[in-house]
Amino acid sequence: MRVTVLVSGGGSNLQALIDAQSSGELGTAEITAVIASKPGVYALERAAKYGIPAHTVCRKDFAHSAEWEAALLAAINETQPELIVLAGYLSILGDGVVRRYAGRIINIHPALIPSFCGKGMYGLRPHIAALERGVKVTGATVHYVNEIPDGGEIIAQKAVAVLPEDTPETLQQRVMEEAEWLILPQAVRQFAINN
Ligand code: GRF
Repeated sequence: MRVTVLVSGGGSNLQALIDAQSSGELGTAEITAVIASKPGVYALERAAKYGIPAHTVCRKDFAHSAEWEAALLAAINETQPELIVLAGYLSILGDGVVRRYAGRIINIHPALIPSFCGKGMYGLRPHIAALERGVKVTGATVHYVNEIPDGGEIIAQKAVAVLPEDTPETLQQRVMEEAEWLILPQAVRQFAINN
């Protein structure tokens, strides 16, 4: 099953998928393309190291968002994905992509939806919000992508303890290590089995 992974940053979730594929834990799923939202991100180095074809479709290169959305849709179509995975992808997908691939786009969010999610809740922000609220448990969620940011049907979640000495950075690292990097490959493997 062909999987296209969309990235924007360090690519640790992409790396988790690559490692799972290398160890046979992705089943029939295969990462066949990576599309970055901007050039020079470390996720592109990770793709290059494993010989995964990569493209960049950067919003700044287009005068209007409609042009960017059309270019992104064209780039995705070219990779002929059966599943699209948003792995640390920071652009909000246009409706064109969401409609064309309805039911075949999943995202990893670094909190237990419906907590600490929605527009603007990315990177460290969910972890800052969790610490400010004083929750004792947070975690990560894999969900389908629809037109509402973080609003799609939940596929998988994994809880992670919040420790008294946590900073946003230590909490983010633990949520990635103990939750994101586990449930995302599992969700991709399960999607390949179900579809
Ligand atoms: C991580 O905080 C992840 O939870 C979120 O994007 C951030 C970077 O992910 N989805 P990655 O290292 O680029 O995969």
